[in-house]
Amino acid sequence: MRFYRLLYPLRTYLITSGRGEESNVMAADWLTVLSHNPPLVGVAIAPERYTHKLIMRYGEFVVSVPSTEMINDVWVAGTVSGPQKVKGMKVTFVPSKEVSAPSIKEALANIECRVIDSRSYGDHTLFVGEVINYTFRRDAFPKGEPNVLQGFLAHIARSKFVTFMNKVIRPQTRKD
Ligand SMILES: Cc1cc2nc3c(=O)[nH]c(=O)nc-3n(C[C@H](O)[C@H](O)[C@H](O)COP(=O)(O)O)c2cc1C
Repeated sequence: MRFYRLLYPLRTYLITSGRGEESNVMAADWLTVLSHNPPLVGVAIAPERYTHKLIMRYGEFVVSVPSTEMINDVWVAGTVSGPQKVKGMKVTFVPSKEVSAPSIKEALANIECRVIDSRSYGDHTLFVGEVINYTFRRDAFPKGEPNVLQGFLAHIARSKFVTFMNKVIRPQTRKD
């Protein structure tokens, strides 16, 4: 039993990097919000990933939020290395607004990041990205909150994933 499995299910994201023909995408579970103001996210990426090389080179990446409909592409992104994998995927790369790394048209959201720090911790590198632009599907985030019925994806282990039920639970002492 690996200790980090105790923190699962974790949401799975797609990280795009590179530019032009060398645009790439990988799956990533180890991602977190680090700061609201300034807006910062951190993602832990192993040095052997092709994505690691591209983020080191260009200092940019996009966090793309996949839906359950993208499960087959998520699996390819997370099990095949290098930009040639994209040819076998259904996702459509579209230009981002502020970074050269592409956004993904079919994704629920795309968060454009510029690397402001990177540091090696054990067998991964923590890339800290400042969020410089984001786009999202209105139906996936009505009223500024996620609509779980749009099929947000979380990872259990290996090729097992889960999604959320529309079962909202609330604390008794709530004020809203
Ligand atoms: C669901 C899932 C989550 C993953 N999360 C991470 C992660 O957080 N960090 C990481 O370095 N690799 C992670 N991986 C492994 C990479 O996605 C995988 O090695 C991928 O093939 C790397 O692609 P690249 O070499 O083209 O960059 C994950 C794989 C899967 C299937």
